[in-house]
Formats: sequence, structure tokens, C-alpha cells
Amino acid sequence: MSAPAVGRATGVLPLIELGTPVLGEPEKAALAEVIDSGWLTMGERVRRFEREFATLHGVEDAVAVGSATAALLLALAAHDIGPGDEVLVPSMSFVATASVVYHVGATPVFVDVEAPDRPHLSLADARARLTARTRAVIVMHFGGYAMDVPAWREFADEHGLVLVEDAAHVAGLAGHTGVASHAAAFSFFTNKNMTTAEGGMVIVPDEGRRERVRRMRSHGMTTSTLDRDRGRAVGYDVVDVGHNFRMDELRGALGLVQIARLPGWNDTRRALTAHYRDVLARELPSVTVPFARAHPTTAHILPVLLPPGTDRRAVMASLREARIQSSMHYPPIHEFDVYRRRHPGTVPLTLPNTEAFAAAELTLPLHPLLAPEDVERVVRTLAEAMAAGTS
Ligand SMILES: Cc1ncc(COP(=O)(O)O)c(C=O)c1O
Repeated sequence: MSAPAVGRATGVLPLIELGTPVLGEPEKAALAEVIDSGWLTMGERVRRFEREFATLHGVEDAVAVGSATAALLLALAAHDIGPGDEVLVPSMSFVATASVVYHVGATPVFVDVEAPDRPHLSLADARARLTARTRAVIVMHFGGYAMDVPAWREFADEHGLVLVEDAAHVAGLAGHTGVASHAAAFSFFTNKNMTTAEGGMVIVPDEGRRERVRRMRSHGMTTSTLDRDRGRAVGYDVVDVGHNFRMDELRGALGLVQIARLPGWNDTRRALTAHYRDVLARELPSVTVPFARAHPTTAHILPVLLPPGTDRRAVMASLREARIQSSMHYPPIHEFDVYRRRHPGTVPLTLPNTEAFAAAELTLPLHPLLAPEDVERVVRTLAEAMAAGTS
């Protein structure tokens, strides 16, 4: 099958983006309202956003912060993870999942994924990497596909570990996140399923630890600027060594608009993913999509595995030429320069399943503004690119 002649001849095919935030008049109006209100930093809108996020996830409360990186760091710090401790982490994740461990003074211990085609953290490998110093484990819901958090909680309880979810990809996946762990950290970075430009949220079921996270996001202070401004508090004490990880009202306002639309966007993402599965199965059966069709997901990204022997760089270049963006999730963290240098011993760490997954993975466009015809164009172009590479 050849690409449409018009596109080849004139290069006017519309760009299919990997992902895109959905923004419009409601977001503009919400931002203008904040400006008009005269109160820009953490206030009533951020608090409302926290409550709505908690309600959407069926939990008691939540704490808004400046990013998921801040959320992960606070989740560890509020559970007293620090120097001398080891934290089990995936290497198949974004680098922040591991860097926060160093930021609290602890040591990340990388764990392999289940199989070359299953990018979830392996419980068996985690068990094999336990030491007397292991204090916590971070699991990541790869691509929006839910981890079995209750099984991980059982493992954590068995070994006295703190279980943290890197929930950056699963905003809106009620029942599967923020319930069975000690803490879950969400991201509202621009490429996530909902955005506040930069932003994050922490769900902590235990009220005492949750309030500690709330204080630690703002220097460990016992009262907020808003409370003092409104006369609800006088003065403050500092009871923890904290940070400035606050969310501001502009982001809170964006969050309130976006969260109302999140369930619908997640439905659209799931429908587009089902369409990808159908079209790929029909037209390009050598390319597989990880996870079963029915696996609970927010469908954050569309990862596929290319068959052995495929030149991924060439495929990505062909897609780009056809005005289709693509990406890879993720280059393994343990292979990054700084992590290699920090790895103890002379033999570099190897994680065979993680490395095999990373070598075969290609991320195709997925966002709520895509049409089914866009999915068909992506698959058709991918088939052409692969055929060109193997001829
Ligand atoms: C899996 C994962 N963890 C953590 C983060 C960090 O999120 P943020 O950019 O909000 O700090 C991201 C976002 O890119 C992510 O994808």
C-alpha cells in the first residue's frame, strides 16, 4: 500500500502529534478569573482541586504539589526514607522515579520487568534484590496500565516496606491507584492525560502522613499564607524540614477545568487504543501491543513492540517524514551515564527483560483529539516503513 499521492507530492498531510494537551476557552477563562481575583499562590482553588481529585479517585483527600517528582520525593520523605536505606525501583520508567531516591539520601536498587513484552515491575526480581537495608519500593503503572497494587502491598507488608506508586500515568483510574499503597504520586505535566502545565498530586491514605506531606510541601510550616491573610491563623511554627513544592492558583484553576473532562478523555483514549489493536491485528500482526485488551488503563500512551530485526531509527525517520510523531518509552534508567557511574562494583548492572523491552518498543500517537482515520493512517504508514526497511 502506498502513501496518499497528495502527501508525497506536496507534504501537506496534517501532522499527527504523539500527544497534545486539550486546551481552550474554559482554561483561558479560568486563568483570567485567577488574575482578577488578585490571589495567585496556593489558595481556595488549589484546595478545591485537591478535593475533586480525591473524590474522583474515591479517597478521603489529596495534596497538590508542583510536580510528580515533588510528589514522589515527599512520599518518601514523609515516611522517613533517607540515608542508609535502599529503595527498589523500576529502571523501565522516567528518570524521576529513581532520582527522587537520591534526593532523600537513599539508594535506588533497580529491578527488572516481568518479561521482554511485559513492562511491569517483576515481583520475583524485587524479592531477589531485597537486603537488610531495603525500606521501600516504588511501582510504576507503565503507560497507564494498572499494576496489581494489592499484590505489591502484600509483598511490602511481608517485608516491612513502604509502598509508593508512581502514578504519573494513571490520573482518573479510580479503584486501581491511591488505595492499597502508602502513597501515590500523580503528574499533570503537559503530556499527561490532564494538565496544569506543571503540577502533581499525592494521595496518602494515612491521615497523619498525609498532613505531613501537606506541611512538607511548604517548608514544614504549620499554617499557610492564605490562612494568615484571612485571619484564620496567627504566626506559624516549623515542624519538618520542608520544601517549596506548592501548586499555585493558576495551576489549581487549570486543574479544576481539566479534571471535569478527564473521565471523557480517558474513555476516548481507551476507544482509540482498541481501534489501534484491531487495525494492527488486521494489517500488521507482527507488531504487538503489550497488555491484554481488558487490562484496566488510562491509555496514557500507545506502546507497541516491533518484531526482531526492525530498524527502529529508520522506522521513526519514515514516520517523521510522513508527518507522524513517535517516541520510545523508556531508555532504561540504569543505562544512563550518571546511574552507570553510581552503580557499585566493576560489572555494569544488566536487566535483560528491561533491556529487551526497551530495544523493541515504539510509542505511537495517542491523544483525545485523534480520529479513527488518524489511527489507520499511522498503522498504514508504519507498515510501509517496516516493509521498506526489510526489502
Ligand atoms: C513515570 C513518570 N514518573 C515521574 C514523572 C515526573 O513527572 P513531573 O514532570 O510531573 O515531575 C513522569 C513525567 O514525565 C513520568 O512519566
